Amino acid sequence: MNIERIGVLTGGGDAPGLNAVIRAIVMAANKHGMEVMGIKRGWAGLLDGGEVELLTVDDVEDIHRTGGTILRTSRTNPEKHPNGMEQIKKNLEKYHIDALIAIGGDDTLGVAQKLLRDGIKVVGVPKTIDNDLCGTDYTFGFDTAINIATEAIDRLHTTAKSHDRVLVVEIMGRYAGWLAMNAGMAGGAHVILVPEEKFDPDEVANIVKKRREAGLNYTIIAVSEGAVPTDAREFITQDDKVDEFGHVKLGGIAKRLAKVIEKKTGQESRSVVLGHVQRGGAPSAFDRVLGARLGIKVVNLILEGKFGQMPSLRGTCIGSVPIEDAIGKLKLVDKSFLEEMKIFAGR
Ligand code: F6P
Repeated sequence: MNIERIGVLTGGGDAPGLNAVIRAIVMAANKHGMEVMGIKRGWAGLLDGGEVELLTVDDVEDIHRTGGTILRTSRTNPEKHPNGMEQIKKNLEKYHIDALIAIGGDDTLGVAQKLLRDGIKVVGVPKTIDNDLCGTDYTFGFDTAINIATEAIDRLHTTAKSHDRVLVVEIMGRYAGWLAMNAGMAGGAHVILVPEEKFDPDEVANIVKKRREAGLNYTIIAVSEGAVPTDAREFITQDDKVDEFGHVKLGGIAKRLAKVIEKKTGQESRSVVLGHVQRGGAPSAFDRVLGARLGIKVVNLILEGKFGQMPSLRGTCIGSVPIEDAIGKLKLVDKSFLEEMKIFAGR
């Protein structure tokens, strides 16, 4: 069957670079004589009557320079809605969508994989600022987020130094510490704490004390939101609520650690949560280019009939891998990178 009309949706947390992907998809598809329908708010846009609109080349003019997603997004899990998966299939038919592009992380791609098994022609585009998706070296949004967090850490140095303070900065990263590692190393944090290794608050306090003994009056601690202290069983969360994919709302580790450090060292300690600032605003040049290349590649996958695949960055080349190989597992920070960081710890 000829593919005449493609549907595209963005699911999960937004990531700078999403609009670059959408623009490239529309431009590449149009060049090959295919129409693109924009599906609003992730999977939510294919439930009920559907929220679907034609996307023209004019609609995507210049959007690659902007953050967020023009299609909007949601963490809607169709399986949590009565007949959700059936409604999706019906709406794909209703809007004459021959092939679907799902841009998202593990959750969104997980739904895409289920639709594939039901015979839907679906391809994916990997997306997460956390960079913890398998099957690709980097995801777009990650570079922008690193740069934002690095700038924040740079700025925290001068104020921490002026006030003789310990500043604990909480960085996104639910299961993997890629953001904290990169921003922490680039920004010169003195301690970096990530979800991959539980940390001992006493050891952190000792680093702060040693720095003071060496005449270094301030300490910057970069902590992933998903980092867990040895005296806690699991993530520190904002409340008990979970989203439709069962994820808790992380937050609070920096505040908690700052309190403990102040108590153990006697040095004034404060916390800063970077939060959604890391995901907002214009994408970096790297993320614009990566997004554009993934968008072009995913249209090629459709033309080649490679359904169930997603584009992937390996080195400098864009290839493709089965969606199935990327989901349900995590790409964690490798041990060697964690070891490298320890060279800088404390100084
Ligand atoms: O998945 C990316 C991410 O930014 C995580 O780092 C973070 O835990 C989560 O999204 C936050 O999601 P929300 O915007 O729904 O609070």
